[in-house]
Amino acid sequence: MSCFSSADESAHYGFSVCMLLQQYRDELGWAGQGVDELGTGDATAIADVVAGLPGLRVRSCDISAPSVEAARANIAARGVADRYTVELGDFFDRADSGDHPRVRTVIANPPYIPAPDRDILMPELWGGVYGNDLVLQLLKAGYTDVLTAVPSYSDPVATVTTAGDLGYRVVNFLAMALDFGPYSAEPKVREHVRRMCAEGRAWAGEDGYMVAVALFTADPDIPGDRAAQLLRALQVA
Ligand SMILES: C[S@@+](CC[C@H](N)C(=O)[O-])C[C@H]1O[C@@H](n2cnc3c(N)ncnc32)[C@H](O)[C@@H]1O
Repeated sequence: MSCFSSADESAHYGFSVCMLLQQYRDELGWAGQGVDELGTGDATAIADVVAGLPGLRVRSCDISAPSVEAARANIAARGVADRYTVELGDFFDRADSGDHPRVRTVIANPPYIPAPDRDILMPELWGGVYGNDLVLQLLKAGYTDVLTAVPSYSDPVATVTTAGDLGYRVVNFLAMALDFGPYSAEPKVREHVRRMCAEGRAWAGEDGYMVAVALFTADPDIPGDRAAQLLRALQVA
């Protein structure tokens, strides 16, 4: 097992979470309840967000022991251990256990590498055959707001359609082009992504792809429905 490392992807995730939390602070009410996070990684991106947003508390977990170890050190180094906590384990086991009080918002840059099976460079990043298994599971976990990365090569149309069927709207998003990193440039993954593009389940260029960090909500009091704009923003070829 290793620790996830992709500086540009994590920076985009952290920046986008920060901006969307600030923009929708009152609507999401995170200063009162805090937020949950699926997948801490090395924690640097969100530790900086916690440091910059007094009042934000994040309860995170990661399935990778080296990630949790690195995350705890990085969180302590930034002086936010009282507001950013990390547990080792499967997010969905913890969510189902009922051990913690329910909060309304979850944030995630979930595993989203599409591949025929889990035998890839970092198996913890496998998102299922089409890459969107974990985000679909997250959308079914009962949160009011899901602030998550939506990559262009992980069947985003199915993700956004399923979200709509479950009663979520896309309130807003930030999209950025990323180069293929070590995990998505692995030949087995690249070939699979090419096949998904041909099948209409993915958008990707020769060297890279798009990722949006999108706020989905089921709260009728938060206006906005930008699902079509989100899908247009992901169409890179
Ligand atoms: C794409 S990385 C993102 C890490 C970090 N949030 C970032 O953006 O830098 C996804 C992380 O989710 C973790 N993960 C995978 N499946 C998980 C699960 N079921 N529960 C909790 N964490 C999981 C992986 O180990 C990995 O660290």
